[in-house]
Amino acid sequence: MSFVEYGDTIQEGDTAIVFLGHESMFPVKVQHGSKTQTKTQILYSTDISLITMMLELKPGSIVCESGTGSGSLSHAIIRTVAPTGHLYTVEFHQQRAEKAMEEFREHKVEHLVTVKNQDVCKNGFGVSNMADAVFLDIPSPWEAIGHAKSALKVEGGRFCSFSPCIEQVQRTCLALEEHGFTEINTLEILLRVYNVRTISLQIPDLGKAAEDNSNPGFDSSNQANQGVMCGSQQQGTAQFKSGVPLREMVGHTGYLTFATKSLS
Ligand SMILES: C[S@@+](CC[C@H](N)C(=O)[O-])C[C@H]1O[C@@H](n2cnc3c(N)ncnc32)[C@H](O)[C@@H]1O
Repeated sequence: MSFVEYGDTIQEGDTAIVFLGHESMFPVKVQHGSKTQTKTQILYSTDISLITMMLELKPGSIVCESGTGSGSLSHAIIRTVAPTGHLYTVEFHQQRAEKAMEEFREHKVEHLVTVKNQDVCKNGFGVSNMADAVFLDIPSPWEAIGHAKSALKVEGGRFCSFSPCIEQVQRTCLALEEHGFTEINTLEILLRVYNVRTISLQIPDLGKAAEDNSNPGFDSSNQANQGVMCGSQQQGTAQFKSGVPLREMVGHTGYLTFATKSLS
C-alpha cells in the first residue's frame, strides 16, 4: 500500500498552487528567498476617483507614488495636478520604470513627473517635507511608511495605500499608528451592477365596478400615465422597466487605507 504524505506547513521544494481567481491559478516550486511576480495590476477609474478626492489632489499638488507599474494612476494624478504640480513616482523594476518614462515623454507630460528606479522601502521617494500626498501600491506598504512620513509636508499631508488583502491593511494600519498618523480609515469602493429589463405583467380583470372605483387619483388623460401603460392595455398587460441588482458582486479590487500626517 502506498501513502500520500501531508504536512501542516509548506516546506522547501514543495509545489504550491498560487490561486489568483477561478480563471487564474498556477503551480510554483517553493524555494527560500525566491519571488513570484504576477502580471502588473493597474488601478481603474472607480478606485482612482476615490483616491483623487480623499487625497485632496488639485492643480499645483505635489504627489509621491510607488510603484509606478503601468502608470495608470500616474497619468490620472498628472492630469489632476497639472499645470503647476508635480508627481514623483518610484518603481524598482527597471524595464517598467523605463517604459513609464518613455510613455510620459510620448504623452508630452514629462515636465510634470520625475521617475525614480529604486526600492521605495529602502530608499524612499528622494524628496523630504514637501509632498501634499503620498500613494502606495506595493506588496508591503508598511515597510515604506517611514519614508512616506519624511516625504510629506510637515503637517496635514495625506496618505493612501492600496492593498488587495486585509492582512496587508492590518500591518499598514499598525505602522501608520506607530508613525503618529491620524484619521486612519480603510474604505472599499464597489460598483453595483444592475440588470435592467422590461417586465410585462398581466392586468387583472376586476370587472366594471372595480375599474370605476379603483385608483381615483389616476388621470388616464395625463400624458405621463399614458406613457407608463403605453401600448399594453389592448393586450391586457402592463410593461415597465425594472432594475435588479446581480446576486454576486465580483467587484473587489482592493482596500484603500487613508491617513493624515499630524504634528507629533
Ligand atoms: C500593482 S503595480 C502598480 C500599478 C499602478 N498603481 C498602476 O495603476 O498602474 C505594483 C508595482 O510596484 C512595484 N513595486 C513593488 N514593490 C516595490 C518597491 N519596494 N519599490 C518600488 N516599486 C515597487 C512593482 O514592480 C509593480 O510594478
